[in-house]
Amino acid sequence: MKLAFLVGLIFILCSINQSTSVLAAEVNQEHDDQNLMTYIVHVKKSENVASFQSEDFHNWYHSFLPQTFAHKERMVFTYRNVASGFAVKLTPEEAKSLQEKGEIVSARPERILSLHTTHTPTFLGLKQGQGLWSDDNLGKGVIIGVIDTGIYPFHPSFNDEGMPPPPAKWKGHCEFTGEATCNNKLIGARNLVKSAIQEPPFENFFHGTHTAAEAAGRFVEDASVFGNAKGVAAGMAPNAHLAIYKVCNDKIGCTESAILAAMDIAIEDGVDVLSLSLGLGSLSFFEDPIAIGAFAATQKGVFVSCSAANSGPEYSTLSNEAPWILTVGASTIDRKIVASAKLGNGDEFDGETLFQPKDFSPQLLPLVYAGSNGNSNQNQNQSFCLPGSLKNIDVSGKVVVCDIGGGVPAVVKGQEVLNSGGVAMIVANSEAIGFSTFAIPHVLPAVEVSYAAGLIIKGYINSTYNPTATVLFKGTVIGDSLAPTVVSFSSRGPSQESPGILKPDIIGPGVNILAAWAISVDNELPPYNIVSGTSMSCPHLSGIAALIKSSHPDWSPAAIKSAIMTTANTVNLGGTPIVDQRLLPADVFATGAGHVNPVKANDPGLVYDIQPEDYVPYLCGLGYSDREIEVIVQWKVKCSDVKSIPEAQLNYPSFSILLGSESQFYTRTLTNVGPVNATYRVELDVPLALGMSVNPSEITFSEINEKVSYSVDFIPQVKVNRGNNTFAQGSLTWVSDKHAVRVPISVIFK
Ligand SMILES: *[C@@H]1O[C@H](CO)[C@@H](O)[C@H](O)[C@H]1NC(C)=O
Ligand SMILES: *[C@@H]1O[C@H](CO)[C@@H](O)[C@H](O)[C@H]1NC(C)=O
Ligand SMILES: *[C@@H]1O[C@H](CO)[C@@H](O)[C@H](O)[C@H]1NC(C)=O
Ligand SMILES: *[C@@H]1O[C@H](CO)[C@@H](O)[C@H](O)[C@H]1NC(C)=O
Repeated sequence: MKLAFLVGLIFILCSINQSTSVLAAEVNQEHDDQNLMTYIVHVKKSENVASFQSEDFHNWYHSFLPQTFAHKERMVFTYRNVASGFAVKLTPEEAKSLQEKGEIVSARPERILSLHTTHTPTFLGLKQGQGLWSDDNLGKGVIIGVIDTGIYPFHPSFNDEGMPPPPAKWKGHCEFTGEATCNNKLIGARNLVKSAIQEPPFENFFHGTHTAAEAAGRFVEDASVFGNAKGVAAGMAPNAHLAIYKVCNDKIGCTESAILAAMDIAIEDGVDVLSLSLGLGSLSFFEDPIAIGAFAATQKGVFVSCSAANSGPEYSTLSNEAPWILTVGASTIDRKIVASAKLGNGDEFDGETLFQPKDFSPQLLPLVYAGSNGNSNQNQNQSFCLPGSLKNIDVSGKVVVCDIGGGVPAVVKGQEVLNSGGVAMIVANSEAIGFSTFAIPHVLPAVEVSYAAGLIIKGYINSTYNPTATVLFKGTVIGDSLAPTVVSFSSRGPSQESPGILKPDIIGPGVNILAAWAISVDNELPPYNIVSGTSMSCPHLSGIAALIKSSHPDWSPAAIKSAIMTTANTVNLGGTPIVDQRLLPADVFATGAGHVNPVKANDPGLVYDIQPEDYVPYLCGLGYSDREIEVIVQWKVKCSDVKSIPEAQLNYPSFSILLGSESQFYTRTLTNVGPVNATYRVELDVPLALGMSVNPSEITFSEINEKVSYSVDFIPQVKVNRGNNTFAQGSLTWVSDKHAVRVPISVIFK
């Protein structure tokens, strides 16, 4: 599996410099092991496992392997919590003979996964000293485990001034020594990347430092990048403790065996929340390491938040689809780092760039579109300003329009323009990216503009003999009333593995997010950077889950998820429905329940709760075999003895219905976590071409934690013309005088 790099160029550039030193040692080792691959092996659970000490696990797992392996260090990891099994280096022949043993459930080669904020607290309604951010919450007492690329431990975002020691249950370790140490903020740091020289869990991608700071960075004054987005930097849960598990390096990426090991250890260590900004695409849950690890975590009461992936805007592009995971999409915040392309005819088009030179003269310069000489392949490379493509074009002293994409980050395009004598660059979006723009550290005066603006600019170039343009820098602008908008790259549903569960669950800030970085990009210290990705929105939700856990320590992971989803915003700051990268209303496959509203999530009134054992009838209903389900849940399962349920019958805080000509009937159970006495009435926003009836339509609670069930009929309306729509959406909301508990509904017509 290749962990998807959800944040683009910067990681790649940074990692190149860092990687050379470790290479030599690893190459030698690899030479001996040429035919060996790491296999993930699941074994049938032993009857005696409850009484096992770690030594017993070790001996039991080794008993499946030839005696001679003991001396060869073939065992990579042994697992205790996330799986009954281990990771071991095998040749394909050895793997085959291992698979023939009766106790072995499966043995398959591991895959490599891909990696998929000063202002965000204010945008999310978190105010210092108030409510969820009152001095006695801020995530106090909660431990967030971040499974990522390591951390830069010296950053002030991880200082522990005024923080209490970790809770007594904490059992983790710190592998930093000497000048780099853990403290009461950064309470644990482990490196699970196996290499010849075992190193401390320092960052060599810069991804983990950013994600950890977004979840739980402390308040640090005067954070900025190139002077932009200046303000107090803070994560979502500034007083939560952080435990870092490094599972990726620049050479091999993020291995499945290490991710499973990190989740295994984190559960044992006593984390409360796990944050994973990485993934593998849509997979059967019994073959998805994150789904497997997250189930074990959920069973221990650990909340798991994951990135939805950056493969949008196409449908069915999600990673991390399991219903026991919070799947997080990405949206914009109301802060933009604005520049504008000004044309000779006076038109101006706002876009974004992080590099905002103060000394760039706003005088009009000749304007050229690199892709405007014919239709050859070479021309295509020129339109993307690929490296080397501009050498035969006169761009000297000009502003150059380059198309986004072509497999090359915009920063690299800028370098090509600069190398060829160009002075400034306008990056024109593709149709798919639409109106989404990104503030990135260009190497020359530049601005990224929308697809629509790009078309007009190219039309202007065509229409005049001496086209001219310049770039105007407008700095940090706060208050975009369209925010949040769903960003182009945010992966969309429907879920492929389980279409009966609506995914993603939620969207949160993931565009142009400022947070801690390990090296300075603007010669200022401490270092910060602004990056985008569902890698960024996931840790925001991890931090928000920590805030809720801190104020409701007894809530299950499913209850916390329900609270986050049923209180989400469906409108933007301007009060109109949330739009996507086309500036058209975003559908539920882009937004899930909507945009997180942390303050409301802390007081949802009612929750849709799920116990770990409730997933078994659901998994049986998915058609998995007993053995496959056992790999996930790690207890004996017999679907023939279980009343299996359709996916949409899981007590999930949303509905995803595949509707043919027959009516469908589901039940849900609400748990009262609001006032003792409360009466709720149902309000329906009925999807197109559908009838719905809810019974009862009014529910009165008279106890805390009281559970009441209701039923819903979805009735196809054959006579209603649904035009060309293949799906429709709506919502079901329980409303009292104090609360509105909303679940989204998606209907796909079969
Ligand atoms: C276009 O760029 C690609 C990737 O850099 C390169 O492989 C190809 O040869 C280039 N084509 C032309 C016609 O220059
Ligand atoms: C500009 O002119 C070229 C060549 O005539 C044409 O192919 C292209 O579509 C025009 N572009 C725009 C945006 O009008
Ligand atoms: C809830 O309602 C019951 C019955 O009306 C009443 O006796 C009780 O005092 C109420 N409890 C609260 C906390 O308001
Ligand atoms: C349905 O699609 C057809 C063909 O694309 C189009 O002509 C028609 O206007 C569409 N109807 C509706 C109701 O959108």
